[in-house]
Amino acid sequence: LIPTLTLNTKAKIPQVGLGTWQSTNDDGYKSVIAALKSGYTLIDTASVYGNEAEVGKAIKDSGVPREKLFITTKLWCTDHQNVAKALHKSLELLELDYIDLYLIHWPIALNPHGTPALFPRLPDGRRDLVDEKEWDYIKTYKELQKLVSTGKVKAIGISNFNKFRIEKLLADPEVTIVPAALQIELHPLLPQQELVDYAQSKGIVVEAYSPLGSTGAPILSNETLIKFAKKHDVSPATIALSWAVWRKTVVLPKSTNAERIASNLKVIKLTDEEGKEINNISKVSGTKRIVSPDWGVKVFD
Ligand code: A2P
Repeated sequence: LIPTLTLNTKAKIPQVGLGTWQSTNDDGYKSVIAALKSGYTLIDTASVYGNEAEVGKAIKDSGVPREKLFITTKLWCTDHQNVAKALHKSLELLELDYIDLYLIHWPIALNPHGTPALFPRLPDGRRDLVDEKEWDYIKTYKELQKLVSTGKVKAIGISNFNKFRIEKLLADPEVTIVPAALQIELHPLLPQQELVDYAQSKGIVVEAYSPLGSTGAPILSNETLIKFAKKHDVSPATIALSWAVWRKTVVLPKSTNAERIASNLKVIKLTDEEGKEINNISKVSGTKRIVSPDWGVKVFD
């Protein structure tokens, strides 16, 4: 049985889900099919991943009833000023009537006429940012709030927000819905304990992206993870994912390999002692932000 957490909307969210960044075309379709077959119910995608159509088709073809699933997608940076339209497009591609969780992908508005690519730069190397005085992420969030009463999104949340930005959001008098979730890069080399504690203290469920350190899974060569893997006769990946579950976060491992997809769902229960030892990995070896890009503005603490 997959452990769950409860969102501030009262909906339950499974603690392990499939990440789909870089799973495009046939890889996107097949990985979702494999995940749903092996018992996943949480699928995490995003408009900018370019795979919403494949994810949607896989959901449909799997035959799993919609109400059994928890689908997350995200608003891309070029769509901050066109939230309703962007959601409509995602729903259309996914062939769904509603999204379980709709996240602001980054607290950054990019030129709506610019390339909706992942991390585009202008020819001179700068990012094509919209001036925050003209449009900021709090305005975007207020647009997301309006979606909730339409029933097209069951919950709204944020991604790649730091503590300062969350505090500013929650302090705004027109912000009436506390984000249900915060999705950030989290793994044993980037535990971000203070941010996790802060979000959880506000009732915000924290989700871990790139829990294995993304491409090449660099986290898995860590000796503490290898030690616990041997002890429990599981893989180092299972230990890293089980640690995320132990610290009461949702974890979203990406894989396009059916065996690894199935294996990633089988988290084990770590003791507090083991969890705390994994907490300490980054204190010894240093923290490492592996995938989050430089936006040319301060995004992280
Ligand atoms: P693959 O898709 O070939 O399985 P993250 O979730 O941190 O983004 O990391 C995913 C990376 O780790 C992917 O490159 C994925 O490759 C690989 N990966 C996923 N699950 C496992 C696993 N159980 N063992 C080893 N590597 C894994």
